[in-house]
Amino acid sequence: MTAPAAHAAPRIPAPPSAPADALVRLHLSESPYGPSPHALAAAHRAVDDTGTYPDPARTAPAQAVAELLGVRPDQVAVANGSDELVLLTALCLGDRQRPGVTTADTFPGYRICLENVGRGCREVPVDGIDALADAFDDAGVAYVCHPHNPTGGVLDRAAFDLLVERAAATGTPLVVDEAYLDFAPPGTPQVPDYLGTGAPVLGLRTFSKAHGLAGLRVGYAVGRADLVGRLRAVQGSMPFSVNRAAQAAAVAALADRGHLERVRRGNADARERFRADLAARGRRALPSVTNFLAVPVPDAARAERLLERDHGILVRDAGRFGLHGHLRVSVGKAADLARLLDALDIVAPVTGPGPGPALPTAATAQERP
Ligand SMILES: Cc1ncc(COP(=O)(O)O)c(C=O)c1O
Repeated sequence: MTAPAAHAAPRIPAPPSAPADALVRLHLSESPYGPSPHALAAAHRAVDDTGTYPDPARTAPAQAVAELLGVRPDQVAVANGSDELVLLTALCLGDRQRPGVTTADTFPGYRICLENVGRGCREVPVDGIDALADAFDDAGVAYVCHPHNPTGGVLDRAAFDLLVERAAATGTPLVVDEAYLDFAPPGTPQVPDYLGTGAPVLGLRTFSKAHGLAGLRVGYAVGRADLVGRLRAVQGSMPFSVNRAAQAAAVAALADRGHLERVRRGNADARERFRADLAARGRRALPSVTNFLAVPVPDAARAERLLERDHGILVRDAGRFGLHGHLRVSVGKAADLARLLDALDIVAPVTGPGPGPALPTAATAQERP
């Protein structure tokens, strides 16, 4: 695909510049690299036409995704961020009389959506992927976050194989949240690898992270066509949920492989520098393939509070997700991470020999940083 021509129409006035004391945002795994300039230009062009509805079939982004992944367009559903897809999957996949299942220390969206649609959610301990595989028998739908939020780890091929086999054997759809897959090394197992098996699997992806388009709200599901068809049918109740700017930006972002590659490399370098800086101060972060690190601190809720109140830095207490004693910190700009490191030494000083290695979880035990 060719790069879009420069935008000729009058530009939208820039928002007022952020105040000098604006909060440092290291809590939502946002991209410090911003979007592809082509994606931004495409979004600007799209908002020139605000009087007509966007394409309810989301044809252009669905086709772009399908071409990129080598799947059919009917295996792709484009949505208003992966948040919408998590809700859609909870609403319509699998046996609705049965609760969903996921792991205990994970992104809370699965549990929240399953509870909100009245299905309920069972959380299995994360001391081995076998517990999740065993739970497929009684579950209506299963969720796994891979790469894992908040630890940053990934499933290895054997674990992924096992989950897909259980999905095939039980008929329970397996939803793999691949929000951070763009950051993972080549060869990391992923849903498109398994579409040929015929197993009921669905991967959820987002433009909010590596593509830097969190504010536009766009993501997609890729999976077995009948599962995708169900999502699309429910999307009929909100046919215009992906606006023009988001659809146009998604297409242009997918075409700009160079930008994505620069983000990937920049993130990997910055992440390992941040890890080394933490280690130099006696802090051992969990291995991660993503754009965040889980950093052990004794009282993460307190550290989160004090970092915001006294230092203007936003981070996430990973205890909110069940990973107690850790802060999840985005790999943000170097200056922001330097500020965080100094602030952390004040609010949660390392005492003695340092916190030492954190125990691996099912996800972190198998990761390849
Ligand atoms: C694991 C995971 N899944 C889904 C989402 C939601 O992403 P989106 O912005 O596409 O709705 C997030 C956002 O942080 C996430 O961490």
